[in-house]
Amino acid sequence: MPSTPVLALFAALGAFCTIVFVRNKKPESRRFPPGPKPLPVIGNLCDLPFKDEAATYNKWAKEHGDLVYANVLGRHLLFVNSLQIANDLFEKRSVNYSDRNGLPMINDLMGWKWSFGHMPYGERWRKHRKMFERQFRPAMAPTYWPTQRKEAHRLIRNILETPGDLREHLRHNAGSVIMKVIYGIEIAPRGDKYIEIAEEALDGMAKVAALGAFLVDIFPLLKHVPAWVPGAGFQKKAAAWKRAVLSMRDLPFQAVQEALANGTASPCFVSRLMNDLDSEVYADDQMEIIKGCAGLAYAAGAESTASSLSSFFLAMTLHPEVQIKAQAELDAVIGPGRLPGYNDRSSLPYINAIVKEVLRWNPVAPLGLPHMVTNDDTYNGYFIPAGTTIFGNTWAILHDERNYNQPMKFWPERFLMADGKEHEMVIDPAAAAFGYGQRICPGRFMADAQIWISVACILTVFNIAPALDDNGMPVEISAKFQSAMIWSV
Ligand code: HEM
Repeated sequence: MPSTPVLALFAALGAFCTIVFVRNKKPESRRFPPGPKPLPVIGNLCDLPFKDEAATYNKWAKEHGDLVYANVLGRHLLFVNSLQIANDLFEKRSVNYSDRNGLPMINDLMGWKWSFGHMPYGERWRKHRKMFERQFRPAMAPTYWPTQRKEAHRLIRNILETPGDLREHLRHNAGSVIMKVIYGIEIAPRGDKYIEIAEEALDGMAKVAALGAFLVDIFPLLKHVPAWVPGAGFQKKAAAWKRAVLSMRDLPFQAVQEALANGTASPCFVSRLMNDLDSEVYADDQMEIIKGCAGLAYAAGAESTASSLSSFFLAMTLHPEVQIKAQAELDAVIGPGRLPGYNDRSSLPYINAIVKEVLRWNPVAPLGLPHMVTNDDTYNGYFIPAGTTIFGNTWAILHDERNYNQPMKFWPERFLMADGKEHEMVIDPAAAAFGYGQRICPGRFMADAQIWISVACILTVFNIAPALDDNGMPVEISAKFQSAMIWSV
């Protein structure tokens, strides 16, 4: 005779299968978009990739079209593979397509609840977003240019000294700019305590970001299982990451508070906002919002900017002809003896085209950041249920032959007309590379300025070429696109 716990387990499993079966059974009028064939109950669970996700989702786009539907254990997933549909849903119906999924591992166990990048669409998110956007809108961008330019100069000095440490230099560059702009903190050349903590927090995020990486995101009730229960190792991992996540948010913020109290704070995102706190009544709440906005900036901005510059180096190594053209433009406009500045930008269209092509050719977030659908909807006759996780498939959109001729080719000329001026008919990759609708990246103007100044300065002083092997021959390089949430540096 089976024991009572075993019977209970079977009963629970039976109930779960029934719920999934009933949820998946749809009336004829509720037709989902096409997608890979699901199995009973588990749906497309076995089709989910655990690495290089974008490759699988792009294959689905080729097989099933611009809107692809999958179902994993009753959870609805939707992949948007065309810019037209991305605009229709994320922009025109943005009120319904701007939510985020509640991810128990990230939000509840790892302590990211304070991050507005993870917050549900609503009043609290809006307050954060408004405060953040106000500091990073286009009119504010020039405020950060001196820091970005100074750090670009430091970057080229660092690369000159130790070219073999390129990755570290790119990460240091991105981290330095953000810590200076947000907290007014100069980070140490190596082993900075704030950066080390932040990297630990982000390492955790990268490990849990893939769909289905942790079962607790599929079965949220597992979040209540205590850490000592066999198989609940995720609880211990989450607790360690949580310490890093909260330290990343709190420690630099405390440093600015102390500097403000001593009168030694330099102007920065946090000090400006703290000085502007408008009333005693809401001060605590506003301070939490400032802390949260500041804490998210490093998490959202550092890796992504470094990753773009890393793609730039790869592209230049593979395309010496692009470098030669860029350097001819720089020689003609800048001349000898100085480095480019932001005032030169409008006279350097080919450098602008390289920046656009970097964002298009190897987008930092190939699958964007998933949004969640708030209410049931219908699009082109297809049913899109509330709670659907919806991905803007940025890689597919930026490699769509309908918009970009020979999309796999790194070819900045696509953005220029025969007379060298900017081509207005070719879609700017910023339309997808920075996400969609109301959730579009609020740091995009700062990011664009930073990539631009770095690219312009690097091409002014360096020729980028593959390293040499022990026989003095160039190491063979090829572009392999692997993707997770962020294309890793
Ligand atoms: C090349 C650099 C960057 C790229 C490619 C990039 C891309 C993205 C993408 C794809 C999203 C998700 C948008 C969506 O949900 O549809 C996002 C969100 C976000 N990004 Fe960026 N980003 C970059 C740099 C930055 C920088 C420098 C900052 C801060 C200074 C920043 C702050 C944010 C924030 C706060 C969010 C969350 C927005 C929200 O959920 O409302 N990003 N970014």
